[in-house]
Amino acid sequence: MSNSIRYSAEPARQSISDAHWDGLSASLEAARKEVFSDVELFNSGGAVPEEKQPLDAGFIELPRRLLNDYEQNGEESLVGQILATAQVLREELDRLVVLGIGGSYMGMRALFEGLCDPFHNELPRPMRGDVPRLYFEGNNVDNDALQSLLMLLGTQCADPTDFAQRWGIVVISKSGGTLETAVSFRLFREALEEYYGESNRESTRYVVPITGESGKLRDFSNERGYPATFPIPDGVGGRFSIFTAVGLLPAAVMGMDILRLLEGAADITDNFRDADRGDNPVMDYTAVCHLLEKHSGLKTRIMSTWGKKMEASGLWYDQLLAESLGKNEQGALPLTIVNTRDLHSRGQQHQEGVRDKLITNVIIEKPDGDPISIPELAENRNQDQLNKFAGKTIPEVLDAAIKGTNQAYADVNRPTADIIIPELDAYALGQFYQMLMLATVLEGRLIGINPYGQPGVEAYKQNMNAILSGK
Ligand code: PA5
Repeated sequence: MSNSIRYSAEPARQSISDAHWDGLSASLEAARKEVFSDVELFNSGGAVPEEKQPLDAGFIELPRRLLNDYEQNGEESLVGQILATAQVLREELDRLVVLGIGGSYMGMRALFEGLCDPFHNELPRPMRGDVPRLYFEGNNVDNDALQSLLMLLGTQCADPTDFAQRWGIVVISKSGGTLETAVSFRLFREALEEYYGESNRESTRYVVPITGESGKLRDFSNERGYPATFPIPDGVGGRFSIFTAVGLLPAAVMGMDILRLLEGAADITDNFRDADRGDNPVMDYTAVCHLLEKHSGLKTRIMSTWGKKMEASGLWYDQLLAESLGKNEQGALPLTIVNTRDLHSRGQQHQEGVRDKLITNVIIEKPDGDPISIPELAENRNQDQLNKFAGKTIPEVLDAAIKGTNQAYADVNRPTADIIIPELDAYALGQFYQMLMLATVLEGRLIGINPYGQPGVEAYKQNMNAILSGK
């Protein structure tokens, strides 16, 4: 595996007794077996026992299946169709609005922040890889944010013949009924039809729904005759859908290498299935998190990202863990931080606060761009006294911060572990997301919680709908 991510938990491992570490082997192995027997059950189409419902194990083999399908059927395959539609949107639009919430939003946001320039939307088109600007909406109920984006898209006075103003919509909702997304889709669809003219072909050509096999959005798409509507397959839950069209289509529009993304995910799935503990990031990560929660009370999992590009990936994981395992009054609390920024806000608590935290660092070894050095200045301009560090690069300063922080935690027995990403590319992120999805499911099986479904989220939705309906 080239550019493979690694998991290294040496400091955290010292807080786990050998008896606990070895004692977990049998139940961890049983949980791994259960994960794959779930896949078999899912693939068989047989009846799912009540205690296993819902069973959304479809994400596990999906990356390999999509790659095989693409190899065999090329343009006809789902990936082939995604690439073709992405090409149209990429070449004909300069702004793309992605509507969706939760699992229908956070994965693409993570990919966007991970793989695109931090100032992507502000760059001239040739400097952003000749791809559109990207905006997210439908992920909240926020009048000001909606109004600002609608204004930016210039529905009243914009000129559709000016390429720099041409825009389109990707609307994502598995159920097709989520109010936040549905309301924003109505607003942006109306704006789009006003912009291009209701009967003009752009008004359908530049709307791409991604939705479940049935539901309101599916029905609406069929009725409107949108030329491309992509599925979120049954058996793949929202927060596990990053390797369906939910992540793949917008990623392909943005010029990301979606085949490498899928290869990364497929390779780490193989590793999870075949490798022993010690050489299996999914098993090792799950074991460390679980044992430290169970025996040391570390119920808060800090994903400590060292670089702004991974913040949205951390937030994606916050949702994944919280919605999957936050059930039956169980489940660790996930919390993403970005360092060194948050050393100046949360660092104090991590160093000296309640001993309930496991810190997992996410470290990118090689920056994208050339390392910047601290310049040496003439003595009369050295009032900041930084000449003593002149010549040090920003990655060297970051490395010192990572080592210094981990050392400070180690000195007071605060456990840390590292997920190391050699280079931030599509392949590494494919591994990273699939690793964490598999680990979440594995842990669910280990502690007897169904990681799929989110029954607790329904309560607010029902109340909101009832209040709006005046009931
Ligand atoms: O993980 C999940 O299933 C949820 O977070 C959903 O993705 C979220 O509620 C949005 O649902 P939908 O895609 O049906 O609009």
